[in-house]
Parts: sequence; C-alpha cells; structure tokens
Amino acid sequence: MEALLKKGIKEIIDQYPDVEKILDDYGIGCGPCSVGICQLKDIVDIHNLPEDQEQELMQKIAGIIYPGQDIKIPAGKKKAPAVADEIKYSPPMKQLVDEHVLIKRWIALIPAVVKNLDLESGEGRQLIRDGIDMIQSYADRYHHAKEEDILFKYFDEDSEILQVMYEDHTAGRGHVRAMLEAFDRKDKATLGEHLLAYRDLLTEHIKKEDEVLYPWMDRNLSTTQVGELFSKFSGVDEKMGFSPDKYLKFIEKLEKQFNDQEEWV
Ligand SMILES: [Fe+2]
Ligand SMILES: [Fe+2]
Repeated sequence: MEALLKKGIKEIIDQYPDVEKILDDYGIGCGPCSVGICQLKDIVDIHNLPEDQEQELMQKIAGIIYPGQDIKIPAGKKKAPAVADEIKYSPPMKQLVDEHVLIKRWIALIPAVVKNLDLESGEGRQLIRDGIDMIQSYADRYHHAKEEDILFKYFDEDSEILQVMYEDHTAGRGHVRAMLEAFDRKDKATLGEHLLAYRDLLTEHIKKEDEVLYPWMDRNLSTTQVGELFSKFSGVDEKMGFSPDKYLKFIEKLEKQFNDQEEWV
C-alpha cells in the first residue's frame, strides 16, 4: 500500500481506469487534469476528506488494485485542530502564503538597507543587486507569475479584487525599473525612495492577499480545482528547477548582519 501511495495518480488511472470514477464520487477530479503529477498520497492529503471518508476511499481503490486481498490502509495523518481566528488555507494557497513569509522577511530589512546604502563598494553594490534579484526572480517571476498565470485564471480577471492585485504587481514592477536606473546612476536618494515605496506597497498587498483574497478564493474553489492548483504549482516548481535556498541564505545573512550591529538599524 505504501508503494501505491507514492505512485503518480495519472499512472494509476491509466492502469486502473475505474479509480477515476471512485475519485470522482468523492469530488476529486484528477482525470481531466492535464498535469496530473500528484502522487496518490498528495491527493488524499490535499482534499482533506474527513477521516472515515478517506479510509473508505482508500479501501475502494485498494479493492480495485488488489482484488480479493485484505489490504491494511494506513491511518490518515492527524489533522491539526482548528485554532480560533487562524485562517485555514488549502495546500496550494498555503504555499503562496509561505512564499509571502520569505518576501516579508526581505522587506522588513529594507529600512536598515536604505539607512546603510553603499553604492560605492563592491560589497554594498552586491547587496543591492541581490536584493533586486530577489524581487525580480522570487517575488515577481516565481510568486507573482504563479498568481497571474495560474491562480487568477480561475476567477473573473475583470473583477475589482483582481484588478487591484494586478495594479499592485504592475506598480511593483515600476518601482523595480526605477531602482535599477537609480542603481546605475549611483543615485542613493532615488534608490532608497523606491525601495521603501516597494516595501510599503508589498506590505499592504500581502496583507490583502493573506487576509482577504486567498480565503475568498479558497471558499470559491471546488476540491477538484484545489487539486489542480496544487498540481500546477508543483509543475511550475519543477520547470523552474527553482530552490528558494539562495534567497533564504541571502535573507539570513542580512538578518544576522543587521541584528549583530543594531546601531545600523
Ligand atoms: Fe500578488
Ligand atoms: Fe502574493
């Protein structure tokens, strides 16, 4: 059974087409999903079925794959009890919220970076290059692209709430262009101005997404769509060959630098 849990769902459905019908009965529509790289264990986890239904579903799938055999189904993971006032996100939305956490750690450092701006030394210039790279590569090309190219497509893109999000992303890109120009001119004042403006913009933007947009989207997505999103996000991660480690190291180094020298802040 453990080996089965680690199999890709497409592979299972190809071999045992009846599994698709069983998943459908539980509102899990893996069949039409064109990505389909999720493992069976992910499918079970993502859809967060009540424990008894999860066991029932797994028993039915095992019955098709191992007919006539008495297969022991592993107990589902203990689901965390709900904490009052804590927002519960679906797994794909939680990924975006986790990406926000890393972005927020960077923007929290921006005031100290601006206060100590050094566009003359190699080290000072590298810090700014790395900071802007994190905005362009991680926050924009990776995270915002997941939102714009995948998540937002599930909703009416002309709706006000999404228009506001698009405008914020566009405004952020404008600040980055201005930062790069100021960096080339060694114009500290303008660079600092746009770094701080970007920080203010993203702080509000992330708050809107975490507290309003994502919970609303979660309420309006079907379980099938949540599964599709999870699969598509995993596809983006694989295609980009992306590891946030580089940015995590950058943030940790800066946090250490500024925390060790509090008078800099
Ligand atoms: Fe966004
Ligand atoms: Fe976001």
